[in-house]
Amino acid sequence: MKKLTQLTVAAMCFAGISYTSNVMALDGGALYLDATKGGCSACHGKDAKTPMMATFPKLAGQNADYAYNQMKDIQSGARANGQTAMMKGIIHMTTDEEKKAIAKWLSEQ
Ligand code: HEC
Repeated sequence: MKKLTQLTVAAMCFAGISYTSNVMALDGGALYLDATKGGCSACHGKDAKTPMMATFPKLAGQNADYAYNQMKDIQSGARANGQTAMMKGIIHMTTDEEKKAIAKWLSEQ
């Protein structure tokens, strides 16, 4: 049921953008740019390699599993240093499936 709800929400978000009912078809690139999903691009750069601050990580080409795990660790607090606080406040705005889709997209950049 929860999955169905997520699918419905995702379908609503992606109305107008090509979307199938398969959750694996979530558009990681669109999610990455979506301000309602935390606006990753504002800090990490639209192309994921020109971050807003020189000290912020470049994400383009990063290994998908690694990137996904970092997102999970930042959200849970397992990864916590001075800079992590910047992202911790927004990463909960994405579901696990969305994190995976974004991580996959990042790995392909
Ligand atoms: C407010 C700025 C900000 C926003 C918005 C933001 N991040 Fe980050 N992100 C950071 C910072 C700063 C770090 C480095 C954290 C650290 O030093 O531990 C980081 C780290 C990461 C990492 C780990 C990179 C690595 O090499 O270990 C990933 C993956 C990541 N962000 C993905 C995302 C995604 C996906 C989103 C959108 C859902 C997002 N970020 C939104 C600032 C931001």
